[in-house]
Amino acid sequence: MSDQLIRGRVLTFVKEPAGVDDAGSYRFFEDGAVFVSKGKIAGVGPYGDVAKHVGPSVKIADHRPHLVMPGFIDTHLHFPQTQAIASYGAQLLEWLNTYIFVEEQKFKAPEHAAFIADRFMDELLSNGTTTAAAYCSVHPESVDAFFTAAEERNMLMIGGKVMMDRNAPDALRDTPEKGYDETKALIAKWHGRGRAHYAISPRFAITSTPEQMEVSRVLAAEHPDCYVQTHLSENRDEIAFATSLYPEAKDYTDIYARYELLGRKTLLGHCIHLSDREISVLAKTGAVGVFCPTSNLFLGSGLFDRDRFDRLGARHAVATDVGGGTSFSMLETMDEAYKVLHLQGQRLSPLNSFYMLTLGNARALDLEHRIGSLHAGADADIVVLDSRAKPAMELRMQVASTLAEELFVLQTMGDDRSVAEVYVAGKPMKSGRRETKAEAV
Ligand code: GUN
Ligand code: ZN
Repeated sequence: MSDQLIRGRVLTFVKEPAGVDDAGSYRFFEDGAVFVSKGKIAGVGPYGDVAKHVGPSVKIADHRPHLVMPGFIDTHLHFPQTQAIASYGAQLLEWLNTYIFVEEQKFKAPEHAAFIADRFMDELLSNGTTTAAAYCSVHPESVDAFFTAAEERNMLMIGGKVMMDRNAPDALRDTPEKGYDETKALIAKWHGRGRAHYAISPRFAITSTPEQMEVSRVLAAEHPDCYVQTHLSENRDEIAFATSLYPEAKDYTDIYARYELLGRKTLLGHCIHLSDREISVLAKTGAVGVFCPTSNLFLGSGLFDRDRFDRLGARHAVATDVGGGTSFSMLETMDEAYKVLHLQGQRLSPLNSFYMLTLGNARALDLEHRIGSLHAGADADIVVLDSRAKPAMELRMQVASTLAEELFVLQTMGDDRSVAEVYVAGKPMKSGRRETKAEAV
């Protein structure tokens, strides 16, 4: 792949913003450039400085006046739920049984899984998301489709087959042995191939027997470089059901702790109704609580208490949770995150929002050396954002004077229309998108 200069208003974070105008938390170049060579970032800075060091024949992609930022990272969503977004009227357990466990059965068919995996990756990219941690269905075919679609686009993706051996329809249940064997084979096939990372994925305590939780423990111990992803404390009925199935556990978190599933590579969706004791366990183990604002509002689950996570020293990340979540857009997700925190008297500054979408989520995945910020040596996963993409945004921007204000307009009013371009390992994916079939198979 040829070298290129990506020119625009370059913004990248170097640490978590300590306040609404913490200028030390980011680097910003009003006329900046990112030099990309062989899919990696080779230099970042003022355009004049970066251009000086590259040959005159290097291609320039001039995105001025748009913002050039690291690609967004989504730390929790479900690829088989792409066509189940906007399923009406139910809270978690009824919603799973009525809609989701019906939808996911379709993913036994490899053609269907491949069709949706293609649409799913393209939708992520349209929204500026270059990395995501996703659940596949129980079928290994769905994992093959997922990683194949990611590999075709050279995307750094995290995923895994859900394991579930009870409280689900027959067609969606595996067994402890089958869950173990299939997961093992999928790790051997995909983990570390290109940019693929595997996530061991017991869906949640309700759909796994103690025997399957034990198998998950063994898999996590045998593959410490794989992620573990599951759900924790999303909904009151879910908590009551889960804890009734594991009466020996102190609380919901203790179920996962007993099976040694909590560690720095563990992503726990939702984490809404936790006690201080439980959040302290997450802090001690380094497990990450994943805030899914659009989903938590849509399913009526509750409000994520970020300040308590911070006070107790627990790690957290942010995610769409499609299809409980209602949008693939991380901009729309941060719009809802702002409101969820606001309702609890908590502040989310625009700098913090964009930190979370990029470096913050990369740190939650322990991938900050590769993605989430624009620095020499990192992968060239980049999003280009147009703060004036809609007439109402253009009007609003006429009276915006600071970078923070512009970011807040983007998160409050923006969506996929604000994503002018997205690069995956240096390759433009929006303008250079290959033709894709629109019809279902
Ligand atoms: N808990 C277990 N499975 C799911 C799921 O698919 N979506 C959400 N939101 N919560 C879950
Ligand atoms: Zn989920």
